[in-house]
Amino acid sequence: MRRPYIAGNWKMNMTPSEGAKFAKELAEAYKAAGADCKIMIGCPYVDLPAVAEAVKGSDIIVAAQNMANHTSGAYTGEVSPLMLKDLGIKTVILGHSERRQYYGETDEIINSKVLLAIAEEMDVDLCVGETLEEREGGKLEEVLTRQLEVGLKGVSADDMARITIAYEPVWAIGTGKTATPEDADSAHAFIRSVVERLYSKDIAENLIIQYGGSVKASNVKALMAKENIDGALVGGASLSLEQFMPIVAFNK
Ligand code: PGA
Repeated sequence: MRRPYIAGNWKMNMTPSEGAKFAKELAEAYKAAGADCKIMIGCPYVDLPAVAEAVKGSDIIVAAQNMANHTSGAYTGEVSPLMLKDLGIKTVILGHSERRQYYGETDEIINSKVLLAIAEEMDVDLCVGETLEEREGGKLEEVLTRQLEVGLKGVSADDMARITIAYEPVWAIGTGKTATPEDADSAHAFIRSVVERLYSKDIAENLIIQYGGSVKASNVKALMAKENIDGALVGGASLSLEQFMPIVAFNK
């Protein structure tokens, strides 16, 4: 049985004080709603201490949105997994399409981060997804295969328990365009088949695959009703309680 996993990705929004206030309200609202899902919020680095403090004692997992592929050294401007762990942060989002698109992160760089996160016993939310051009050019499966094969290279079968996959078609992110539940489900089924080929049926069946890209209160139920969709990675709609709570409590 795959437990629903709803994550909010704040991206570069919320100052530390805004984030702490919001996170505290979210923890209270989650409890009051009797929501029953795994819940995570991915925050900017500088927000992490205040947000982690604000949700202490709640079920909310606080994650970083990125990290360096080194533990320490001369890497100006980077943040090490050791620094995250020192704050009690044990989950990291890696390979988000904005990192790939704007900051030149290749599958190989992302893979080195995935391996380092695992070596540091952190959980990873690994994002994959195609651009509109790739989808229209019939390359969806080729792109997902490459992102998974390279992104997960060297990850052992045991360590797959630390991996969540977020399928985020780039053309659906922040655009208001959502993949239809059918299209998303078929991409998720394909991802599961790749993981089955790389690992085993058991690992593929237990893998949590989130959908991301303009998830809203109005479409979350139809998406979550699909067999292969186990959660959501939510950007814009994770920034207000009014929009995020109905997503978190989709099954209430
Ligand atoms: P969005 O972003 O929900 O604003 O489309 C999703 C994401 O990029 O994780």
